[in-house]
Amino acid sequence: MRWPMKLLLNVLTPPVALAGRFYNWGQRYRELLRYRLEFRPRPEDIFIATYPKSGTTWMQMLLVQLFSGGLAEFDHISQKSPYFESVLRQGRFDFLEKLPSPRLFKTHMTYGALRPSKDSRIIFVTRDAHDTFISCYHHLEMAQRFRSSFDPFIGGMVKGKCSFGSWYDYMRSWMPHRTDANVLWVRYEDMRQDLGAQARRVAAFLGIPVPEERMADILEKCSFAYMKRHDPKFDFRLTMHEDSPGNFIRQGGSGERRQFREEHTAELERNLAKLRGDLGLGEAERF
Ligand code: A3P
Repeated sequence: MRWPMKLLLNVLTPPVALAGRFYNWGQRYRELLRYRLEFRPRPEDIFIATYPKSGTTWMQMLLVQLFSGGLAEFDHISQKSPYFESVLRQGRFDFLEKLPSPRLFKTHMTYGALRPSKDSRIIFVTRDAHDTFISCYHHLEMAQRFRSSFDPFIGGMVKGKCSFGSWYDYMRSWMPHRTDANVLWVRYEDMRQDLGAQARRVAAFLGIPVPEERMADILEKCSFAYMKRHDPKFDFRLTMHEDSPGNFIRQGGSGERRQFREEHTAELERNLAKLRGDLGLGEAERF
């Protein structure tokens, strides 16, 4: 790149980034206002609350299949379980009103923003921080085709800097509510280890009567292989009618942390230890 171009980029980037940040704040403020002033809650509402890339879509699919005994078919998961903030942003309240109960919402709002009513039920899903950060990188790279390379991105996330918001702030807002009567905390890693056990736990919590003979179909439809085969049904870009050049259901693994630089791993471990202490997590409670 020639130096006049470089200079121009250096001069223009900060104000453009700042404008982008104001735009994002504006969007969030509008969502929140619409939520507080126009949204009509129902006592049966169910929220799947997650930090992005923690297994949200997987849990959406599990709920949809549990409620239908493994028989649900759809063109796109958002028809069965919409992204709450996106619907608010678009002001689609007629769509919200038409949804049958119980409505299954996916949300990335913090607890403080959502302030869920005690009548609603929440499935709060978390995933190992390393795996979440790596998944965020691939998601943002795929979705926005941004130019950040891996190490600086992870370095930023470890410090709590990400366009999705800080992972630590999210955990600080939700974790104190993990044992509330209307909240069920589910770990992505536990779903990977024994999806059947977690499916039964979720069904019991929500009071869904699932005949045991339907379980095999439910688990098959929620398997990584099935969801990967039907990737377009889950790719959020297709709800926006865009091309889908990458895979939304990527690899669904755990323990990719070896990709982190040593100093990032060390900093993250320190931050996690502090967070655990601040939240008063017991020995057996792992993020
Ligand atoms: P990876 O990017 O690590 O592959 P979200 O739905 O919150 O955006 O989370 C996306 C992550 O969940 C992706 O992780 C995706 O592959 C994984 N995922 C989706 N469906 C899954 C399934 N059936 N089994 C395991 N992981 C799944």
